[in-house]
Amino acid sequence: MKPKVLLTHQLFPEAIELIKKEAEIEFCSSDHSPSKKEIIQKIKDKQGLLCLLVDTIDQEVIAAGQQLKVIANCAVGYNNIDVEYAHSRGIYVTNTPGVLTETTADLTWALLLAVARRVPEADRFTRAGRFTGWRLDLFLGQEVTGKQLGIIGLGRIGRAVAERAQGFKMKVIYTDPRPLPEEEERKLGVKRVSLDDLLKYSDFVTIHTALTPQTYHLISAREFALMKKEAILINVARGPVVDEKALVEALEKKQIWGAGLDVYEREPLIEEKLLRLDNVVLLPHIGSASRETRLKMALTAAKNLIQGIQGKKPDNLV
Ligand code: DGY
Repeated sequence: MKPKVLLTHQLFPEAIELIKKEAEIEFCSSDHSPSKKEIIQKIKDKQGLLCLLVDTIDQEVIAAGQQLKVIANCAVGYNNIDVEYAHSRGIYVTNTPGVLTETTADLTWALLLAVARRVPEADRFTRAGRFTGWRLDLFLGQEVTGKQLGIIGLGRIGRAVAERAQGFKMKVIYTDPRPLPEEEERKLGVKRVSLDDLLKYSDFVTIHTALTPQTYHLISAREFALMKKEAILINVARGPVVDEKALVEALEKKQIWGAGLDVYEREPLIEEKLLRLDNVVLLPHIGSASRETRLKMALTAAKNLIQGIQGKKPDNLV
């Protein structure tokens, strides 16, 4: 008999086929947000769980999975899973690193340029039939080329963002608890500084750090006060790294010039006031959303799941 696995959401057919060869699949009933109760009920006789970043896989859920061998998250971030508890129960936890690096870096730049050059605002204006002719002062934005970029978290995605900055002839500084070797810093054209200095000197601040107890509200009122008035903040990492209420205040008071967000503190809820501000561009967590990359993520998660249920050490252990 094949081992049983639980999939909290539908996946691409290619990934389903892969899993079907090795396991008997059960899905959660609603593809939107399966309730914790449903996951707990269905996980009881499963050896593997494949979940998305929207599923909270806490101690209670994991404890219900008496036969569980592996939890395969279809995301690089895994703050939705109580990894420590899973490990204490001898359960593998896996993620999907690498496959979404370039795609997420691309979106970071899409967002940065959109805010700097006011692209969504100008699009709304044009569609509303308000474009009556060229004007010298129409939608003046911020220059990007040659400016100072500050990267918070120089992991895979942070580095891919830094590589792209070279094309914009930008000066790049970064913060990260683990410094890059000097040789790599030179190649990438980056310099490590303290968080406060990064905030003080950057024209663009972009966040690429994981959400941990240490990075929760890393950017809050004190940090906004350090930033330049013309600065733009980009967050494509995890919402709670930024104190969303403090961000609203900074944007309202024009303490900073603008922001671009792909993630939110209480996702999918968004601070009401953000929706009414013109100096912020809001996206629905699509950092890795190219067709190619999302398929790779699903296939990677499927492979990790299969390896785990077969008792092999999965490729992408966290
Ligand atoms: C991840 O994989 O953690 C991303 O947030 C999904 O795009």
